[in-house]
Amino acid sequence: MTGQLRLGVNIDHVATIRNARGGEHPDPVRAAIAAAAAGADGITAHLREDRRHITDGDIDRLMAEIDLPLNLEMAATNEMLAIALAHRPHAACIVPEKREERTTEGGLDAAGQRNHLAYYVEKLSGANIRVSLFIEPSERQVEAALRLGAPVVEFHTGRFAHVDGEERSDELRRIADCAALAVKNGIEPHAGHGLTFDNVAPIAAIPQLAELNIGHFLVGEAIFTGLEDSVRRMRAAMDAAR
Ligand code: PXP
Repeated sequence: MTGQLRLGVNIDHVATIRNARGGEHPDPVRAAIAAAAAGADGITAHLREDRRHITDGDIDRLMAEIDLPLNLEMAATNEMLAIALAHRPHAACIVPEKREERTTEGGLDAAGQRNHLAYYVEKLSGANIRVSLFIEPSERQVEAALRLGAPVVEFHTGRFAHVDGEERSDELRRIADCAALAVKNGIEPHAGHGLTFDNVAPIAAIPQLAELNIGHFLVGEAIFTGLEDSVRRMRAAMDAAR
């Protein structure tokens, strides 16, 4: 699978800034519109159990006001399933979620939680929502995703982003091998977490990857150069690496 690598822009942290003061500014829906204008292929938003950033109202408005496909990141809970089924976003990415974590730390244990996850994969798929499982780049997790019938996996690039030298090369190899394994088994591989202008190139160069989901860095960089500029530069860095 080669061709254009899609960029999903995660707008959670626009909502983080808004929620620091309450009120409506900055508006994550306006950010999604700016990201679309700058070449994003999709919008990603994580509705957390504690609603620390994106709120239910944001999801209502993103579904109503945005033309790009919405990738709803969600925990495998009945509450989130009901919300996903009510909205029917283009995609749902099932992520592990712990209240005390700052961000999604580590991938889903698709292998260990197979019985729990099967119900959610089936219900979401039955509603024509494209299910993605956010997993570590390991053969065991890809095989579990295959057994669960998930059409998409997203590889957690957090470790890649936070180590360097030989450890980074090893992690990159793991991601590339798992992307190849996924495609061989008919699963579309995506990747995301911790990606920046400086580290995106080797990930974007993995030919099997179809989509990257990037948020925190783009919103942070937007403080200095604006969101449209940061999205445009990320898009260019991804394209240059292909
Ligand atoms: N993909 C998934 C599944 C995530 O949970 C996150 C973080 O919310 C991202 C991608 C984006 O990570 P970052 O904000 O570090 O770019």
